[in-house]
Amino acid sequence: MAADAVTTLPDRVRDRFPILRSRTYLNSCSQGALSDSVRAAYERYLRDWDEHGSPWDYWVERMESARGAFAGLVGADLDEVAVTTSVSAGVSAVASGLRFDRGRSKVVVSDFEFPTIGQIWHAQEPRGARVVHVPEAPDATIPLERFEEAIDEETLLVSIAQVCFRNGSRIDVEGVVRLAHERGALVLLDSYQALGAIPVDARELGVDLLAGGTLKYLLGSAGLAFLYCRRDLVEEILPTATGWFADEDIFRMDITDYSPSRTARRFEAGTPPVPSIYAGIAGIELMQEVGIAETREHVQGLNEALIAGVDELGGRVVTPRDPERRGPLIAIRSTDEHALVAALERDGVITSSRDGNLRVSPHCYNSMEDIQGLLEALGRHGELLAT
Ligand SMILES: Cc1ncc(COP(=O)(O)O)c(C=O)c1O
Repeated sequence: MAADAVTTLPDRVRDRFPILRSRTYLNSCSQGALSDSVRAAYERYLRDWDEHGSPWDYWVERMESARGAFAGLVGADLDEVAVTTSVSAGVSAVASGLRFDRGRSKVVVSDFEFPTIGQIWHAQEPRGARVVHVPEAPDATIPLERFEEAIDEETLLVSIAQVCFRNGSRIDVEGVVRLAHERGALVLLDSYQALGAIPVDARELGVDLLAGGTLKYLLGSAGLAFLYCRRDLVEEILPTATGWFADEDIFRMDITDYSPSRTARRFEAGTPPVPSIYAGIAGIELMQEVGIAETREHVQGLNEALIAGVDELGGRVVTPRDPERRGPLIAIRSTDEHALVAALERDGVITSSRDGNLRVSPHCYNSMEDIQGLLEALGRHGELLAT
């Protein structure tokens, strides 16, 4: 019995996250909790800096390890992965290399996108892009028919978020990919709100481009992200947003031409975020060790209980009920989401909010007691729940 209890989630990982001793932490959609191994990685970075001064060969090697970690995470090859400082940086590099003057000028953007993605596509309008939004239905899904109406033979690219940061809704990625590819369009998937919480395989999903970062369910911290680009697409995109780490030979130090790498490294830019690389690798390795598929099952169980509890309180869950149509994040309608987040924080429960919703995002380390504690607190602040 006792042995079983520590081999299942969350018991076997909880003591690796010190914050859980003092808080109920349910905000992994914003930032994963700090683990002992990510803390140790930062300490290792400082020690290496202290002891070796400027070990740049080693730090560049660490960057290659990060590339390997990201490639392993999404089932890609090393030459299909750019290591970037943010999703914005990778997607901007791709956007800068697209041409909108060859009969395909349309970019179809789902209304589930994070602001950065919408803004990057609209920033291409002076270059000839026409941005078309695919609206959300009242049930917080985007039905495939809406993509079917929007994607046509003039569409260059379809930009979708796997899990919406506002409402936790999960898009039918394979369905969108099928429609887009039938009509000759590329698909860019922003998987930030899924990575680490749901197994993600770029090839299985069939996407052409995929971006994400380490901040959330991958348990790293700010400053590290990646961009996957399907191998045979890489050389068709010539980024104009670039930098020396994108060059074919970084250390040739040539200021007389632009010869980008033949691999996805061409979507990189300047000096890599070394401290974040140490932390990011540690976070990804920890999630691989914990098990992402097992985490998905565990979180699903917690979220079933959460949804049932909110129903009982008379609250309104915005996230779709179908487990296939949602990610790890559950959004609950509030009459004043900022006041609700603040009230919960006073009760020792950390959450966040967006767009009128309380966001609750359990991870591998959360327990049923965490959910019960949250539900009790929601009961105490019932006036802040929208019915
Ligand atoms: C879906 C999604 N995409 C992107 C980002 C962030 O992008 P960036 O790395 O450019 O800050 C976030 C959250 O911060 C997100 O939730």
